[in-house]
Amino acid sequence: MPEEQEQSAVEIRPARSEDMDALLGIERQCFNVYFYDYYMLDRRQFECYLQDPECIFLVAVHTGRVVGDILGPVETWRDPPKAHIDSIGVLPEVQHQGIGTRLLRAFLNEVRRYGCTRVTLEVSTANATGLAFFMKHSFRKTRLLPDYYGRGLPGQLMTVELTSPYRAS
Ligand SMILES: CC(C)(COP(=O)(O)OP(=O)(O)OC[C@H]1O[C@@H](n2cnc3c(N)ncnc32)[C@H](O)[C@@H]1OP(=O)(O)O)[C@@H](O)C(=O)NCCC(=O)NCCS
Repeated sequence: MPEEQEQSAVEIRPARSEDMDALLGIERQCFNVYFYDYYMLDRRQFECYLQDPECIFLVAVHTGRVVGDILGPVETWRDPPKAHIDSIGVLPEVQHQGIGTRLLRAFLNEVRRYGCTRVTLEVSTANATGLAFFMKHSFRKTRLLPDYYGRGLPGQLMTVELTSPYRAS
């Protein structure tokens, strides 16, 4: 299938409690690396995100299967509000086909609705793919966070400014 058709076969929708097994599977497959040892989300944490009305939690569905997710809070108490991406993951077998991009764009569209002008995240400095992905999407490196993922495992704080007006995707 051509890449464009492949991407349009992906639906982005809010996460639901019945997605739990798929979400846990994505965590196991995406974050089972030494630099994310203390990072993998568990069932209880996913349940908290699902119940939090100020959290954006989206999944990518491909051929009827949940293959990716993105989640993070909107800090509505700030003026202007700011959002943070706590996690994004796409199953290895369907990575590099534009699904992560679809998830990220949908997340950014959602946070614009809240009036957010800035989105932040942390990524391991050892995660070359993650760094390349976020830089491609205009995130810039803002601060190095020593030992963020454990001793000797720094994190990179990254930020994107949302300057363009909201446009529905
Ligand atoms: C980061 C991640 C979500 C990207 O998802 P994806 O669906 O593969 O992303 P896309 O297909 O939209 O890729 C867009 C860009 O990401 C980067 N990228 C994606 N896969 C890559 C790979 N295997 N090697 C190098 N760069 C890669 C490239 O810059 C790519 O742009 P290109 O297609 O022009 O080369 C995915 O790799 C993933 O789940 N990684 C494991 C979890 C993780 O590290 N999450 C980020 C930290 S929370």
